[in-house]
Amino acid sequence: MEDNNNIESIVNDAIERVKNADSIEKINEIRNKFLSKKGIISSLMLKMKELAVEEKKRYGQIVNSAKKTVEDALNNKLEEVKSLEIKKQLEKESIDITLPGKNYESGKENPFYKVLREIEDIFISMGYEVHDGPEIVTDEYNFELVNIPKDHPARDMQDSFYINDNLLLRTQTSSMQPEIMRLAKGKPIKVICPGKCYRRDDDDMTHSHQFAQVEGLVIDKNINMASLKGTLELFAKQMFSKDSKVRFRSSYFPFTEPSVEVDISCFKCHGKGCPTCKGSGWIEILGAGMVHPNVLKMSGYDPEVYSGFAFGVGIDRVAMLRYGIDDIRRIYSNDVRFIKQFNKKIED
Ligand code: PHE
Repeated sequence: MEDNNNIESIVNDAIERVKNADSIEKINEIRNKFLSKKGIISSLMLKMKELAVEEKKRYGQIVNSAKKTVEDALNNKLEEVKSLEIKKQLEKESIDITLPGKNYESGKENPFYKVLREIEDIFISMGYEVHDGPEIVTDEYNFELVNIPKDHPARDMQDSFYINDNLLLRTQTSSMQPEIMRLAKGKPIKVICPGKCYRRDDDDMTHSHQFAQVEGLVIDKNINMASLKGTLELFAKQMFSKDSKVRFRSSYFPFTEPSVEVDISCFKCHGKGCPTCKGSGWIEILGAGMVHPNVLKMSGYDPEVYSGFAFGVGIDRVAMLRYGIDDIRRIYSNDVRFIKQFNKKIED
């Protein structure tokens, strides 16, 4: 009876320990303690030899059933702990689909490039080719071949960044005119040349030492002011408003004769007068004129046979008008908060 009580308390002790075990290691420890060869329950068997024959059978049965009870409890607990650990692991690895995702913003095009692309598209649709050119040019290309000799007062207005006596950052895309004529070798020309220009300037809301122009150059037989006006009107209608009108005011450029400043009717107020056009109903957008005979001659075109027109549009100016940008420096400052805003046209 004493033995029975002893075995029962051993089993209870084992079961109690199993109940509290919360890891595989702890279960193994208990298994070792009670069921290994030298474990508590196994060593109970050693008592067999002290018992009488008739007792042995009963005792063996009790010990075996104790062993089985503990073994079963351990196995059940092992299953339980294992599945709990899997569950914990899954919880740790699970993805919380309710968390807000990371937002990777796509870049937006600078309004400057939007406008440049539109200008290019408009002229390409009229049959123009687009030409790139160097930003560092010789004095000859920037000035002399466009009829601005060394002592010409027009140079003062375009004081630039010189690299040496002969090389400078171009002050105007008109430096492309002689280059295009040289490449065309006396054949008709219909090109636009967009690109950056540089002039020494005191930067403010409307002036920047760096800006960009699109030069237009058309040379053929029978090109006249009407061709120029028609072209620019078509451009203004597509760029600004279907009912845009174009106005020429006489002006002066050394490389064109006659020369004109070109205004478009205000696309905001349609000529009535508003802040965009400073009340005049007109907005100045570019300089233009008929290519000067000297310019044609210097680049191998006979002014008696050929004539042409040229124009220079400020891309920044068009972008500012088109998108209501108040400060030219914003175009070059690379502030994403600024760039992000321009996805729609501002037309009233
Ligand atoms: N190059 C001139 C300027 O920068 C613009 C222009 C180009 C005028 C072509 C007439 C013809 O102001």
